[in-house]
Amino acid sequence: MQTYIQDISKYEGKEVTIKGWLYNKRSSGKVRFILIRDGTGIVQSVITANQTCPEIFEIADRVTQESSLILTGVVRKDPRAPGGYEIVAKKLQIIQLTKDYPITPKEHSIEFLLPQRHLWLRSRKQFAIMRIRHQLIKACRDFLDDQGFLCIDCPILTPASVEGTTTLFPVDYYGDTVFLTQSGQLYNEATVAALGRVYCFGPTFRAEKSKTRRHLTEFWMLEPEIAYMELEELISLIEDLIVYVIGEVLNKRRAELAILERDIKPLEKIKKPFPRITYQEAVELIKKEDKSFRYGDDFGAPHETIISKNFDRPVFVHHYPVGLKAFYMKQDPVNPEFSLSVDMIGPEGYGELIGGGQREDDYDTLVKRLKEKNLPEEPYRWYLDLRKYGTFPHSGFGLGLERTVAWICGVRHVRETIAFPRMLEKIYP
Ligand code: 4AD
Ligand code: MG
Repeated sequence: MQTYIQDISKYEGKEVTIKGWLYNKRSSGKVRFILIRDGTGIVQSVITANQTCPEIFEIADRVTQESSLILTGVVRKDPRAPGGYEIVAKKLQIIQLTKDYPITPKEHSIEFLLPQRHLWLRSRKQFAIMRIRHQLIKACRDFLDDQGFLCIDCPILTPASVEGTTTLFPVDYYGDTVFLTQSGQLYNEATVAALGRVYCFGPTFRAEKSKTRRHLTEFWMLEPEIAYMELEELISLIEDLIVYVIGEVLNKRRAELAILERDIKPLEKIKKPFPRITYQEAVELIKKEDKSFRYGDDFGAPHETIISKNFDRPVFVHHYPVGLKAFYMKQDPVNPEFSLSVDMIGPEGYGELIGGGQREDDYDTLVKRLKEKNLPEEPYRWYLDLRKYGTFPHSGFGLGLERTVAWICGVRHVRETIAFPRMLEKIYP
């Protein structure tokens, strides 16, 4: 029977069989140490000339990095071993002897690693990032599911834009042009009228034309939408979600955060309440450091970094000028120059992690907004219907998964937070 390395502590003194790959090895005199990984962890096995048969000793000398192998041995507690346990080998079988594995344990440049992504994923740091990503997804879903949300997935092929027309990926659809979805939001607004509280979680696409450390062309978004919820309540919901998911990662992925050498003190500070400032207040913060910034400008990465420097936790920026936001944002009834929009800017310079707000629920206003944005009415006819048949206040947001993983893991660039990143001109492997 196969035992997984993550469960090894339960087998002290017992014989186990590990199936995996050689991560690394070293020798000292008549002792061989081999490090085996199986996808759940890494464990050390000791092979000594006197306690094991000479055959294993010979295999341990021959086995190369990333050879696939099966090891049987007895688990022994040893505080000196990485992870606190090691395996005294009894049997070692090579499934395939790997030749010339390209990623050696030394440091490599990103230019070298990116085309090797299919292999790079086996490295320790990448292993840790993927496990944290999984935990974050699970925590997000648990949080929403426990509050009675339903996960209703939205289509990937769509006839209309959500977030502007400049980042659309066209697809030939039996002779017509359709687009890869930029966001599930518009469909969420239909399903939320049917089911009350919904979210979709899936890949979204933007033909981003610039190379930055925060932009992918294919990224995953968690998008909750709630009927009869207004902006204030939405902000509180986001706050609760973030506090919960950070807590879950801190509780369940300590070891992975340690592998990444992530300083967890800033994460431990993520408690309610998060600061809330208006767009205008954010502009004042930026102007103190960047004299060229003008009221009405959109925030770029450097501006978001200036804003976040003022706080030790995520900050909500709300009430952006109407012109800066998409056609569907509701105008503030008190001051229609502003929209009922909110972005959450992450701490430590990770930029905008969440975008959302209250949706325009008035039919005529929405038609007017489409015209102002030069969008054709036809593809949005069904969307307008939602304002015709029992319109209702509603709000929602989108959390960019990769940016959130980058923040939690403390990795600089989003390219390491998804198994196979898609970026401007980069689609291999
Ligand atoms: O602010 P955005 O564009 O909002 C929407 O798409 C809304 N329709 C969501 C909603 O209300 N349901 O995108 C939401 C988040 C951003 O805050 C950012 O974290 C992430 O998605 N994001 C990207 N992440 C990686 N690469 C890109 N090119 C991204 N564009 C947006
Ligand atoms: Mg946004």
